[in-house]
Amino acid sequence: MLVTALTEMLGIEHPVCSAGMARVAQADLAAAVSEAGGLGCLGGVSFMPDALRSEIAKIKSRTDKPFAVNLLLPDSLTTQDEERWGPVRELWGGLDPADRTKLAGVEALLTPGAVAGQVDVVLEAKPAVVVLTFGTPEWFLRECRERGIRVAALVGSVGKAREASEAGVDLIVAQGTEAGGHTGYASTMTLVPAVIDEVEPPVIAAGGVADGRGLAAALALGAAGVWMGTRFIASPEAFGHAAFKQRVLAGGFKDTTITHSYSGKRMRAFANEWTAQWEQGDKGPADFPAQYAVAGTTVETGYQDGDLRKGMMPVGQTLQLVHEITPAGDIVRATVHEAEAILTRLAPRKLSRSS
Ligand SMILES: Cc1cc2nc3c(=O)[nH]c(=O)nc-3n(C[C@H](O)[C@H](O)[C@H](O)COP(=O)(O)O)c2cc1C
Repeated sequence: MLVTALTEMLGIEHPVCSAGMARVAQADLAAAVSEAGGLGCLGGVSFMPDALRSEIAKIKSRTDKPFAVNLLLPDSLTTQDEERWGPVRELWGGLDPADRTKLAGVEALLTPGAVAGQVDVVLEAKPAVVVLTFGTPEWFLRECRERGIRVAALVGSVGKAREASEAGVDLIVAQGTEAGGHTGYASTMTLVPAVIDEVEPPVIAAGGVADGRGLAAALALGAAGVWMGTRFIASPEAFGHAAFKQRVLAGGFKDTTITHSYSGKRMRAFANEWTAQWEQGDKGPADFPAQYAVAGTTVETGYQDGDLRKGMMPVGQTLQLVHEITPAGDIVRATVHEAEAILTRLAPRKLSRSS
């Protein structure tokens, strides 16, 4: 049994969280991880408010254990400023209606007011934890505190970790550049201890963790648990086309790239024709979130259709370590068992004295 500040704070069995991956982490995955004793996180950003409400209800119908929901609340998404939304509206409006329907996963990020609707749904549903990426607005923390919801901040730098700690979050997820999805510059091995040195709340390590070796290493760095994304793509409960999952199993270090071409922000994803075309072109991407509309259906054809040539498929460097599709609950249990065995092996043995 691995008891940490994370397991004690949330009353969960294992210090293993599944990441709130947009599209990939729907109710099936989040519920399976929480039911296995970890902390499952719903990728809340990809749902319009009504769909988000149903998805959370689905998790609650499958488990009564704590779970989390991920939201993105940067000013660029919560502002009502028409100047900010104008270009997004224009790009979105210019899309073919069929394409727009296809873009279900990013509709909420491209629709003014949808993120505010997500916030209302989440505050009403009161998950154990809300994980915020790209900012920790004070008003939201206050609302959560009033309802007894814990707030975690997912950060990729020491500066952002400090800001989140000062804002009063309960947990910090420090995500190294190995991670799939939007990612920063520092490696997990250096970022986690650097963040721990700077902040008050318990720190969870993210990026590059796929098994018990990673969990044991994260605990050795001083982390209170791990947050794993890529490993859970390769589970039957994860949403995603079989070709995407197969590519995770077959892929290696050289297959990922850092690209701004899908969202406008730095993202680690599978390298393909689309990402190469943007690397070679002279036109830079639009800002976040407008680039999603520029990228059009490519941001969905990876997950939905398994389009390996152009489709967006965020993935981390742990794809090198992932070789099989495994039920999410088994991933949680195997990770913990392996870490326990490693830590037992490394524990100092008492030397018997011979007289
Ligand atoms: C397919 C995919 C989608 C992701 N979507 C999100 C997201 O919507 N919000 C978020 O905060 N992080 C997202 N991430 C990043 C994860 O939360 C997590 O930090 C990362 O996967 C951890 O690194 P790992 O992939 O090496 O396990 C995503 C990652 C992947 C692989």
